[in-house]
Amino acid sequence: MKLSEVVRSGDWKSEKHVPVIEAPENVPADQPVEIGVTIGADNPHPNTAEHHIRWIKLLFQPTDGFTFELADIQLAGHGEGLKGGHEGPVYTDPFAKVTVRLKQSGTLLALSYCNIHGLWENSKTITVN
Ligand code: FE2
Repeated sequence: MKLSEVVRSGDWKSEKHVPVIEAPENVPADQPVEIGVTIGADNPHPNTAEHHIRWIKLLFQPTDGFTFELADIQLAGHGEGLKGGHEGPVYTDPFAKVTVRLKQSGTLLALSYCNIHGLWENSKTITVN
């Protein structure tokens, strides 16, 4: 079995697990660019001790060559507390924003992990002018 056989995808408007990448289509070379990754923006994913998005990874595949990891975001707060899994004081929402500088065009790849429903992916091309 290969990783590609177990990573799921889908339409983010109806599937609450798909990471949505927010980034400009065209960017200037070597200048700071904000990239956001959100899970469940329109259709919120549960965020409880029993069922939550645990991490997000953002990767970059240049037009030529190997893949680079840009960010690894661990989402650690899911409502845990002394009184139980829904009574805690804090929740980490499944959202991340990172700033990168690109020297080459390529594809941004986002991977998210739900503790019950596994791995989900999405991608977005980004062109350096
Ligand atoms: Fe889930």
